[in-house]
Amino acid sequence: MTATWFDWKGRLGPLRLRLTDTVFRPSTVTGLIAQVLEVEEGDTVVDVGCGCGILAIIAAKLGASHVHAVDVSPDVVEVGTANAEEHGVADRISFYRGDLFDPIPRDVEADLIIGDVSGIPDDLAAESGWFPDGRGGGPTGAELPVRMLREARERLRDGGRLLLPTGSLQDQGTILETARTLYGSVRELISRAIPLPGQLMAGRALPELVRRGVVELSQRGSRYLWQARVWELTAG
Ligand SMILES: C[S@@+](CC[C@H](N)C(=O)[O-])C[C@H]1O[C@@H](n2cnc3c(N)ncnc32)[C@H](O)[C@@H]1O
Repeated sequence: MTATWFDWKGRLGPLRLRLTDTVFRPSTVTGLIAQVLEVEEGDTVVDVGCGCGILAIIAAKLGASHVHAVDVSPDVVEVGTANAEEHGVADRISFYRGDLFDPIPRDVEADLIIGDVSGIPDDLAAESGWFPDGRGGGPTGAELPVRMLREARERLRDGGRLLLPTGSLQDQGTILETARTLYGSVRELISRAIPLPGQLMAGRALPELVRRGVVELSQRGSRYLWQARVWELTAG
């Protein structure tokens, strides 16, 4: 396990964060979620797909009474706990390694879920270098977020909220259709056009995903852009 450092300059930053080669490096989308993250004093928060714990730490600093933070990364407990200790909130965050909500005690009922699991097609994920294990959210990038949305509904109190990032690099239509079926209200909070990185432009996966309508890009001059969005779902 090789530890590296990352300087978070987003909300409540600067914060120095420990990473390892199995832990996701916070991204532009992390920054968007942090920007719209609202926590009521005393909320119970679940952060699923927590990576190094940055959003869990921000939620704790904003007043959560407890944050349950899960990731599949083998280093999540060690890295997340070290980061939470460094920033004075370790007594209010529990880190777990596992699949989605499996490791979280059954009696935990969340006021807020941050649902930021990997959500781009597996073939793109393998070429992107964004995910330490090289895996995305399934063949269209919708499969894992849809499973997360179904399980989250069981863990969210009535009236509770879920923050859901989506992107035009995945089958957003299927994810949003599931969200509208399961949740009373689905509201877009923020949207950002992000330049497509060179390795995806040059890769083999993109043309086929665009042809099939899974991925949608826009163009500004010679640059291609994808659209990231963060939604607020309310359980009703
Ligand atoms: C886009 S990253 C976001 C990480 C973190 N929220 C951040 O913004 O820095 C998605 C995270 O979901 C995790 N993940 C993927 N599949 C998962 C699963 N089935 N259960 C829990 N976490 C998962 C990945 O390891 C990765 O850390």
